[in-house]
Amino acid sequence: MPANLTVNHLAKSYPDAAGGRKTIIEDFTFHVPKGSFVTILGGNGCGKSTLLRCLCGMEEPDSGEILINGEASSRLGRVGLVSQEINLFSWRTALENAAFGLEVQGMPKARRLELATAYLKAFGLGDHLHHYPREMSGGQRQKTAIARTLVSAPDIILMDEPFSALDYHTRTGLQCFLLQLWAKLRETILFVTHEVEEAVFLSDYILVINPIPSSIKKIVKVDLPRPRIRTSREVMELSARVLTLYGAGSCLGDMELRKALEILARHKQERESEV
Ligand SMILES: Nc1ncnc2c1ncn2[C@@H]1O[C@H](COP(=O)(O)OP(=O)(O)OP(=O)(O)O)[C@@H](O)[C@H]1O
Ligand SMILES: [Mg+2]
Repeated sequence: MPANLTVNHLAKSYPDAAGGRKTIIEDFTFHVPKGSFVTILGGNGCGKSTLLRCLCGMEEPDSGEILINGEASSRLGRVGLVSQEINLFSWRTALENAAFGLEVQGMPKARRLELATAYLKAFGLGDHLHHYPREMSGGQRQKTAIARTLVSAPDIILMDEPFSALDYHTRTGLQCFLLQLWAKLRETILFVTHEVEEAVFLSDYILVINPIPSSIKKIVKVDLPRPRIRTSREVMELSARVLTLYGAGSCLGDMELRKALEILARHKQERESEV
């Protein structure tokens, strides 16, 4: 059953090289309503994956609470993660990969293969059930990884930049596919990205994150009707507003760039003089 998720004052640090600790997440407080699609938008290294690992119980936060339907009970089996790297087992077929979570849960073989087959077919992978990851495209592998998480019917689905390594057409196709699936299942989804356009296209709410030690800069409600059109004025206007909040990247400093070019030129000269 879809559930809601509440995070109260979560903080997380890691040991640093000097023997102290480095704060990664300073203070996250937010609520993901049941059946909603919430996106975390933040730059590289601001602690997005760290947060998801805390939420699914792979790591412990230093402090703060994580509540599912208002309760702090075990999150094991209730929270499913589609991780940032597609980590399918290379020695398992798409079907065996998709059924893995059910196998861990102890579901009998015939039942788990039936369920995983039904999911993969719904994902348009009926012709790839017995293919190994190396025999599938990036998009097909990603769909298999998503199917593997969904088939276990978690109460809350965490997705860590699941489409970031894919080309534009595969990525936008999978975004639409995910929204269709969500419209049917009404699962609670917490989705991580650093693409403003992706966040606006998908979400009910966007949490814009500050760099480390990270905190929530702003929660933006995306009050646009669905299905959304990427090129519509409303979507583009909101994207521009979120981009202003998020901030554009700055260029390498003049000094650093000049230094890098000098070193490059020296290397080139040395290589040429060796020939
Ligand atoms: N196990 C660890 N030990 C020490 N430092 C870590 C560990 N895991 C992550 N970090 C540090 O925590 C910070 C946040 O890492 P994290 O992977 O959560 O970032 P992210 O927001 O997911 O970045 P990206 O967009 O690149 O995926 C980084 O500076 C990283 O080096
Ligand atoms: Mg990450």
